[in-house]
Amino acid sequence: MPYAKIIGSGGYLPPRVVTNDDLAADLATRQIETSDTWIVERTGIRQRHLADPGVTTSQLATRAAQIALDDAGVAAEDLDLIIVATSTPDFVFPSTACLVQAALGSKGGAAFDVQAVCSGFVYALATADAFIRAGRAKTALVIGAEVFSSILDWNDRGTCVLFGDGAGAVVLKAADEPGIIAAQLNADGSQMKILCAAGNVAHGKVVGDPFLRMDGQAVFKLAVTSLAKSATDVCAEAGIKLEEIDWFVPHQANVRIINFLGRRLGLTDDKVVVTVDQHANTSAASVPLAFDAARRDGRIKQGDLVMMQGVGGGFTWGSVLARM
Ligand SMILES: CC(C)(COP(=O)(O)OP(=O)(O)OC[C@H]1O[C@@H](n2cnc3c(N)ncnc32)[C@H](O)[C@@H]1OP(=O)(O)O)[C@@H](O)C(=O)NCCC(=O)NCCS
Repeated sequence: MPYAKIIGSGGYLPPRVVTNDDLAADLATRQIETSDTWIVERTGIRQRHLADPGVTTSQLATRAAQIALDDAGVAAEDLDLIIVATSTPDFVFPSTACLVQAALGSKGGAAFDVQAVCSGFVYALATADAFIRAGRAKTALVIGAEVFSSILDWNDRGTCVLFGDGAGAVVLKAADEPGIIAAQLNADGSQMKILCAAGNVAHGKVVGDPFLRMDGQAVFKLAVTSLAKSATDVCAEAGIKLEEIDWFVPHQANVRIINFLGRRLGLTDDKVVVTVDQHANTSAASVPLAFDAARRDGRIKQGDLVMMQGVGGGFTWGSVLARM
């Protein structure tokens, strides 16, 4: 049975950087108070990249995908699977993956979106791995991409300071050696209300609430307990000890969640990849963006064992263990 090996990665962030001070000044014009100090203390976030109006998720995804394909030395026409993880698709349909496929000039392979919010990339990666392991695909492109700013209520200081826009991608190829060695995906739909954007388009108008709503403390508690268990379980499944992990690439939502998990799992800070300070929470894009950053600066190397974790709305969570 073939393994799925990560052979390239790429990231793309829209050029507009908004610092906490910029955001605080903007919110102040609407009599909403926040500060760099509050945001940094509670989340570790210092800035985020925001897409300009009119920029779409498929555009960000295509930029990241092209960088990943170049990095892998793979031509777009050789892809037989494209999966895009996103909660902010360009359209109701067709899928963002089909738009990316067309933009890349690829044709004929499978292309579809995965909707698991901030766990989306990990879900998509595990899905692509299953396709390759089953012999249903040989060369796959997996992307996490979001224009999350489009679903934020910019009058809700409890959420709008937390998120950013961006895209990250990896290219997977069938190989004789690992590769992705284990994956676990989980969900608890009964917790749907603690993090949701409970609106849709029907009969020509938006029905329900189109903005992201969150019970931050409930999300915090569930995130740390579910991710700690998921990490232990996925390592047990792979017959790996936690201390064998070279790099931990968690979802980048909050540095306090990341630090708590690192401590709980006994992983020292120098094994944990953190980009939340620079990117804020880019939902499905956060894990591939962090992974790509650590690969490009030489931290993640050939042969390293990497654990990626996602957690988010649904409630969803999951882990993937990959040998580079
Ligand atoms: C959102 C989060 C940072 C809030 O931190 P917290 O310590 O739980 O803060 P609370 O929500 O209890 O709010 C504390 C106070 O800060 C205020 N506050 C909220 N947002 C604020 C902001 N941006 N600036 C200043 N004050 C703010 C609240 O109104 C509250 O004020 P009050 O005590 O007068 O009522 C934290 O709960 C969190 O990180 N949760 C997880 C979120 C997450 O990771 N989501 C994505 C998962 S995919």
